[in-house]
Parts: sequence; C-alpha cells; structure tokens
Amino acid sequence: MQKHDLAQQICANRALIGKFASLLRTEPASIKGRIHRVESMSVEPRRIENQLTDKGFVPVYTTAIIEQPWDSYTEQDHATWSILFKRQREILKGRACAEFIDNQERFGMAAGQIPRFEEINALLAKTTGWQLIGVEGLLPELDFFEHLANRRFPVTWWIRRPEQIDYIAEPDMFHDLFGHVPLLLNPVFADYMAAYGRGGVKAHGVSAEALVNLTRLYWYTVEFGLIRQDGALRIYGSGIVSSKGESIHCLESDAPNRIGFDIKRIMRTRYRIDTFQKTYFVIDSFEQLMEATRPDFVPIYAELATQPAYPAAAVLETDTLIHRGSGEGWATDADA
Ligand code: PHE
Ligand code: CO
Repeated sequence: MQKHDLAQQICANRALIGKFASLLRTEPASIKGRIHRVESMSVEPRRIENQLTDKGFVPVYTTAIIEQPWDSYTEQDHATWSILFKRQREILKGRACAEFIDNQERFGMAAGQIPRFEEINALLAKTTGWQLIGVEGLLPELDFFEHLANRRFPVTWWIRRPEQIDYIAEPDMFHDLFGHVPLLLNPVFADYMAAYGRGGVKAHGVSAEALVNLTRLYWYTVEFGLIRQDGALRIYGSGIVSSKGESIHCLESDAPNRIGFDIKRIMRTRYRIDTFQKTYFVIDSFEQLMEATRPDFVPIYAELATQPAYPAAAVLETDTLIHRGSGEGWATDADA
C-alpha cells in the first residue's frame, strides 16, 4: 500500500520517534520569534534540534508550554486550516460519530480561521475541566501522561506547510486540534483520557512492555477507534478524522478487519504506523470504553507479559468479527 496522509498518526507512538529519522520535522520558516515560553513544566526545557543517535537524526522538542502565537499565524497558515477543515468536514458527514461534529460546532471551530486556544479553553473550563496547552511537538511519554492525568491536552502550536497538506510525518495543530479536541467536551471520553494519563504514569513505573500494551490501547481507541451508533459504524479516532484517505478506507474498504472491542486483545495487537490500519476495533459506547479500562491493569500487564503479541492483521476465533478483511494491498513487512 502506498503511503497516504497517514503519518500524522504517529502521535501516540512516542517510543518510535527514532524510527522516523528520515521524516524529520521541518521547522516552519517563521518559527523564530514566535515561541513564547510562558511556563516551563520540566526542569530543563530542551532545545529544539535534531540529535544524532544510533537510529539517525531524531527530532527533539522542548517540553515547555508555549502560548499560542495566534497573531503570528500567516494568511497561509489560516488558509491551510481552512482547506483541511472544509475537506475533512465534507468527508466526515455521515462518517464521524455524532459527538465529534456537534462538539466542533459547540467550540465554534470553523473554516474561517485557526481557532484560538483561549476560546476553546473557556468552554472546556466550564464543562469537562480540560485545558489545551500549546507545545512544540511530540512530548516524551511521561510528560504526556502527566499532562493528561491533570486534564491538560498538549496541542502542537504550528500548522503544516502547504506542501504537507496531504502528508505530514508527525502531528501538527490540525491533527491535534481538529482531531483530538472535540471529544474532550464529551464527559465520559474526557474522563477516559484523564484515566489513561494516570494509567500511563503507572505503567511507566511498571515496565517497558506495560507501556507497549497501554500504547496499543491508545492507538486502537483514541487514534483509530470506530464506534457503533444507530446500527452503523462511525469514526471517533483522531488519527482517522484528520486523514482524508483513512476516513473513507476505515469504513468502506473491504481490506481491513473490523472487530468488536476487547481490551486484552487490543493490548496484544501490533499496529501499523506507516500504512492504513489492518484492523479497527469497534466500541458500542464511550461508557463501554470507560468501564473496560476501570480495572487495575497491573495484573493484566503481568498476564500479557507471558503471551505473544498478535500481528496487526490477525483474526482470532474468539473475536467478535464485524468484517473479515480481504487483506488487499496490505504491506507484508513488519508491524510496529
Ligand atoms: N485502569 C488502568 C490502570 O489501572 C488505567 C487506565 C484507564 C488505562 C483508562 C487506560 C484507560 O492502569
Ligand atoms: Co494524535
């Protein structure tokens, strides 16, 4: 399968940043003078640079919180938002879950201009208590988990350049804001995200394998989840809604598996970071997600540590199979 507009999906996969050495972040030309460090969350904010490691050059970001430099966005930045917003909203009609579109509208997100974090935060403060914080890019895992646990959602402050409209190798503001933020207005999903953050801090203290298990859950729910609404499949995953190609593929293509949500099964399932997913997991409600993740995961991590992972394409006898993928166009190289 060709690479499409998929790479923004690496969002969840902080551990794999190093594998993207060839897809180095290119800084927006106007970055200098646009960053305002209003508060440092870490002891020593790191410089923005590309560090040479044994995996090649790896992008490194400051962990500082950055005030959204709204006045510095150019006409072109707003135009990029506008093009992407219109295109995705058109595609997502009848494809995205009801809450996603409704909440975008409640926030007043529109094609006209890049939303102001301040305005989004005013509504979030009155509702689910979440707050957006501006960041430079992907954060180290523990920083990310701690923000979520405290109901702070990190949003990349910059938007992709025009030549990256269809393909960007990492999350930008469009993915983070358009894709992730709407569901933070849903009380159950908002609680799920905070619980995930607390679970992440905990898993970080357990083992690297526990983190892998937990990251798969994020991937197959927050980033690539499908939900059944009124008898039809709908999208709620942010990695999907911000991707033109995958928004259609995930629902309409014969190629991928669509399987009923099963927490341990998901935590054992590898995934793709470079192609459309081979498998999507379907929830019946956000309450189901919340309930399934309520138990202490520590014994689950211990149990999973003794069991092999499933390939991204696997279909098991125990699966609640909604659609068996034809496998057409699947890449045969290794899953992440
Ligand atoms: N219940 C999980 C734990 O004990 C935490 C968690 C909550 C993980 C929600 C994911 C989502 O680790
Ligand atoms: Co994301």
